[in-house]
Amino acid sequence: MANIFPRSSNYIALKVIFCLLVLGGAASAAYFYYLTPDYMRVGYQPVQPVPFPHDVHVTQLGMDCRYCHSYVQVSEHSNIPTTQTCMNCHTQVQRNNPKLLAVRQSWESGRPINWVRIHQVPDFAYFNHAVHVDRGISCVSCHGKINHMDVVYQDQSQTMGWCLNCHRHPENNLRPVNQVFNLDWKPDNGESQQQIGSALKQQWNINPPQNCAGCHR
Ligand code: HEC
Ligand code: HEC
Ligand code: HEC
Ligand code: HEC
Ligand code: HEC
Repeated sequence: MANIFPRSSNYIALKVIFCLLVLGGAASAAYFYYLTPDYMRVGYQPVQPVPFPHDVHVTQLGMDCRYCHSYVQVSEHSNIPTTQTCMNCHTQVQRNNPKLLAVRQSWESGRPINWVRIHQVPDFAYFNHAVHVDRGISCVSCHGKINHMDVVYQDQSQTMGWCLNCHRHPENNLRPVNQVFNLDWKPDNGESQQQIGSALKQQWNINPPQNCAGCHR
């Protein structure tokens, strides 16, 4: 008996299953990308033991980020300051302010203040502060205008797509290294961010990793 279907039709079922798998994969990837709490972290502002005002200390008093986050330029992690750092001033200033109660209690007991962590990258991805800060990426690109925040909240999603977006176009964020801690810096002399960023990218040979192993080591 003659075969009424061409030979290749044996594979149609397989092809259909394959297409469904691909579509299903894409849909669940999209679901994870858009709907997981990761994407919704923007705006996260936990209640802290002390409502520490960055605007007062940085903008009003003129303090440098490194006074408190002293490891940010030299290490993978940026540290949160110890109670001792606060008490350099607060043994004298605002000694009876109730907002500083948890600082004084920590000072007396010797137990650290339980600050609530805001930004966090999962362990399976590698992130390093120093490599970014020392290559002309400012805190403001990844944390927003901390210097004008009353209490810190998360400003950027910090998802994988967000990391890659900058790694593909670092010129949108590169600035002179001596302006990294100046969160209000703007390009001057009529130059655009693109012009300055592109020039720096070429000059320093900037080439952030886009391959999986670059961040998943
Ligand atoms: C006087 C000390 C001090 C200075 C100066 C300071 N910070 Fe902080 N910073 C803190 C403390 C304390 C916390 C933890 C409490 C909180 O999150 O509000 C913190 C938290 C943060 C966080 C959130 C950390 C997390 O949990 O994810 C970021 C981001 C940050 N600071 C960035 C900056 C930047 C950028 C500057 C400079 C413009 C700066 N800080 C200057 C003391 C300081
Ligand atoms: C270099 C000195 C200095 C350091 C270090 C410092 N502060 Fe302050 N802080 C001040 C001064 C000065 C004021 C008062 C500002 C004003 O009156 O407007 C203040 C005000 C405050 C206030 C009160 C704000 C209000 O609205 O009442 C809090 C809370 C505070 N600081 C927390 C901290 C914490 C927590 C640390 C450590 C992470 C810290 N400070 C480190 C100088 C400092
Ligand atoms: C390229 C993006 C990027 C830049 C630039 C950057 N940060 Fe971060 N920051 C992050 C990420 C991502 C985390 C979460 C890190 C983790 O979980 O290990 C973080 C976490 C922090 C924390 C919490 C403690 C920690 O290390 O986990 C502090 C404090 C902080 N950053 C301060 C700063 C300061 C100050 C600057 C500027 C000098 C800065 N960051 C620049 C992305 C950045
Ligand atoms: C605003 C821009 C920007 C963002 C956002 C950013 N990066 Fe980068 N990243 C860079 C630049 C610039 C370099 C330096 C490239 C160079 O030196 O050639 C870099 C380098 C790196 C490197 C290479 C470090 C090394 O030791 O070689 C890793 C890993 C990395 N980034 C991970 C991340 C991760 C993970 C995130 C997201 C949580 C992230 N980056 C977000 C701009 C960015
Ligand atoms: C620039 C750094 C960077 C590169 C390059 C990168 N990733 Fe990621 N990846 C991350 C970060 C950061 C996270 C965690 C994101 C979060 O917390 O939302 C992540 C998360 C993931 C996850 C978990 C997804 C989820 O929703 O939690 C998978 C799977 C993944 N990456 C695979 C890959 C593959 C495959 C590649 C290569 C095509 C790649 N990554 C390249 C930074 C990177």
